[in-house]
Amino acid sequence: MTKNILVTGGAGYIGSHTALQLLQGGYNVVVVDNLVNSSEIALHRVKQLASDFSNNLSYIKADIRDKEALDKIFSSTKFDAVIHFAGLKAVGESVEKPLLYYNNNLTGTINLLEVMSDHGCKMLVFSSSATVYGWPKEVPCTEEFPLSAANPYGRTKYFIEEICRDVQRSDGEWKIILLRYFNPVGAHPSGDIGEDPLGIPNNLMPYVQQVAVGRRPHLTVYGTDYNTKDGTGVRDYIHVVDLADGHIAALNKLFDTDLGCEVYNLGTGKGTTVLEMVTAFEKASGKKIPLVMAGRRPGDAEVVYASTEKAKRELNWKAKYGIEEMCRDQWNWASKNPYGYNSANDEE
Ligand code: NAD
Ligand code: UD1
Repeated sequence: MTKNILVTGGAGYIGSHTALQLLQGGYNVVVVDNLVNSSEIALHRVKQLASDFSNNLSYIKADIRDKEALDKIFSSTKFDAVIHFAGLKAVGESVEKPLLYYNNNLTGTINLLEVMSDHGCKMLVFSSSATVYGWPKEVPCTEEFPLSAANPYGRTKYFIEEICRDVQRSDGEWKIILLRYFNPVGAHPSGDIGEDPLGIPNNLMPYVQQVAVGRRPHLTVYGTDYNTKDGTGVRDYIHVVDLADGHIAALNKLFDTDLGCEVYNLGTGKGTTVLEMVTAFEKASGKKIPLVMAGRRPGDAEVVYASTEKAKRELNWKAKYGIEEMCRDQWNWASKNPYGYNSANDEE
């Protein structure tokens, strides 16, 4: 029997890539998204890319804080599992508007868990983040490391992880997988779907991409005095298609094995500096990225990369792509869609 998967936040960057992978894997997918940080065009593109499977995708515009709406969705379809991406993710905004973040991310998740429980759907994959490792004392980060959070966004991830652990402890019917993403970058190789942040990008690669297409004059490099090979920060960049595959592996684990609440890192296990990433992107795009060197960004860690052993061992998953493919596909998406899903006229 074809399995029904509810994907919250499925119009977003990671959600749209995962929805496509699910469709191509033969799942029925229902996306719930309020489009606060995304465009419905992404889902139209997912449908086109899914070709023969396109009829297995449906979309409902709803806010996960709206419990009645969620209840209606669960009443009309019996879901086998939920992949929960919906959430706000801008660190700076979370510092300015903590209540918005607690309301959206925590209330939304609590609603979702309640409605899932009411309808007897107790399998969940949740988008956590490497941000819960804070400034790690050593690398690679293993799943057993102590958790911390430096800002309200990070705390929502940490709190939701704890809520999931409590819910599963209270009711052994639940099976929950918490996925800690490292730094997702790149786009689907078609160049038809990718990351399209609203306003000024916070993260490195969306910013680099906007410099490359002429929307921003230069990249500001935050910190040149870190204890790393070239003084710039080190992160574990992971191709978004590999990340999407990690969700299929997590679903298989939920369906095929007994487990309670488990956590897995999704990263490549390799660290790359800001300057190495810029050089790789310049090579892939043939564009020069002008740089302005600046001081450290508050809250940034020096070196963060994943231990990938647990995901390899227990999910049978590992990343396939390196930074060349990440930059190639990022540029393919950027050059085909310099203003994201909107036309140039809609730009701020
Ligand atoms: P995104 O903003 O592109 O996608 C999130 C989606 O959730 C958006 O489409 C948005 O419209 C939707 N949404 C937000 N609040 C909602 C609500 N109340 N009701 C319904 N829909 C809502 O972000 P993304 O990069 O695809 O991230 C997906 C998830 O992964 C988020 O939870 C994020 O915190 C987490 N994550 C992302 C990264 C990253 O670097 N992109 C890293 C670690 C974790
Ligand atoms: C940031 C968030 C983290 C979140 C993650 C994914 C902070 C403090 N941390 O992490 O909570 O989970 O994004 O959404 O915001 N850089 C520049 N110039 C830029 C942008 C970034 O030099 O314009 C550097 C950063 O200093 C860092 C690296 O690039 O060394 C990666 O930055 P970014 O893409 O923002 O990811 P994180 O810092 O890992």
